[in-house]
Amino acid sequence: MHRVTLAGPDDFEGWRDAARAMALAAIPADAILWDVAGSATPDLFGSDATPLPPAPADAVFSVPRAFVELAQSAILHRDPARFALLYSLLLAVRAVPGRMEDRADPLLRRVEDLAKAVRRDIHKMRAFVRFRELDEGDGPRFIAWFEPDHHIVRANAGFFTRRFASMRWSILTPEVSIHWDGHILTEGPGAQRGDAPAEDPVEDVWKGYYAAIFNPARLKTGAMLSEMPRKYWRNLPEAALIPDLVAGAQAREAAMIATAPRPAARTGNSRAAWQALRDEAMACTRCPLHGPATQTVFGDGPLDASLLFIGEQPGDQEDLAGRPFVGPAGQLFDAALAEAGVDRARAYVTNAVKHFKYEQRGKRRLHQTPDVPEIRACRWWLEQELDLIRPRIIVALGATAARALLGKPVTISQMRGRPIPLDDGVEAWITVHPSYLLRLPDPDRQAQEQARFVGDLRMVGERLAIRA
Ligand code: URA
Repeated sequence: MHRVTLAGPDDFEGWRDAARAMALAAIPADAILWDVAGSATPDLFGSDATPLPPAPADAVFSVPRAFVELAQSAILHRDPARFALLYSLLLAVRAVPGRMEDRADPLLRRVEDLAKAVRRDIHKMRAFVRFRELDEGDGPRFIAWFEPDHHIVRANAGFFTRRFASMRWSILTPEVSIHWDGHILTEGPGAQRGDAPAEDPVEDVWKGYYAAIFNPARLKTGAMLSEMPRKYWRNLPEAALIPDLVAGAQAREAAMIATAPRPAARTGNSRAAWQALRDEAMACTRCPLHGPATQTVFGDGPLDASLLFIGEQPGDQEDLAGRPFVGPAGQLFDAALAEAGVDRARAYVTNAVKHFKYEQRGKRRLHQTPDVPEIRACRWWLEQELDLIRPRIIVALGATAARALLGKPVTISQMRGRPIPLDDGVEAWITVHPSYLLRLPDPDRQAQEQARFVGDLRMVGERLAIRA
């Protein structure tokens, strides 16, 4: 039996190094005991545990990128079996690389379920961390208490340092605390709920805002509980209002109908947030594509859209105009939408990558497909757009968009034509990119494929009507 002791419950690098050495030495999964330094795992094998075999200096092997991305998420799950499951999957994928494509594989599905739970927890932390202001004499510090389900705090720290870059803040959790002084992120031991302040002056403003945007006509208690589970309520100032708002929902709905129409309070607020996000994206240097491009082409459309399209990246004309889908692919897209009976003006349209990637050939700028690090870098903006718009249906146009949305490579022919449930009740649909249709040389085939594209869009439009 071999024992591997990882530095922490989220020690992906430690797991990867050990797993690589074990795999190279052909150690079977059931001959390894994985644990975490400082944890209370009983020392069943004591000093009988065989040390790690040294990895041969020149021996390497590679696994699909999709495995690495999946493992990076799944390892954050609290399930103690995750290290062993990942190692079993690593051995399987090493033997048969196509195993990552086998959606029916029980081991792959189990690991995917772990990763999905982790992604959901990460999303919940981003949505439900509420800072309380503390005046320490040398300026304000913002403190939040959060209880994650999984070991996600370190993995999520980058989001908070970028989002709240100029604030001094701490996020306290039972397992670890993270602190940002405006420049450096540090880590401390776990804390208790009572270590964070209970209330602050901003709270009243926030409660007032929440009461104003609470829409009794759209009250779906089940959906609300799945989106904002009760366990988070304790830390949300606005949650104190929920029982009263729900109790008064019927009366308020009747009053609302009587006094309709009225302006939607949320739009005003999210317009400012969207504008700020767009302004920030205009100065984006997260990947090298910003250099040669004319400008960032941000998403466009109503902020309360229930339908959101993701394209690949701006083309030559979009790069100059600063708006998505205005060139030849955009014209085909508009025509297909019109034929399918979907109103583009009511949809939000954006791209997976927000700078034009091209190769200069004489005077022409030839489109180049963005690569995975560029897609990943730009997901930072896409995720925030999705968070702000909160559409009910997201349509990915083409492989790049599908990859950006689902975080893994996707075969369009296998995925198109049916809804794909995402977290929080959102539905994804995958179809081809309009440029693919433009590139088809055979006119008959082009007509055929275009009709299929229109069919996909029509299904989405009908689905939306059903789900409205
Ligand atoms: N292709 C895209 O994917 N997006 C655009 O904005 C234009 C062309």
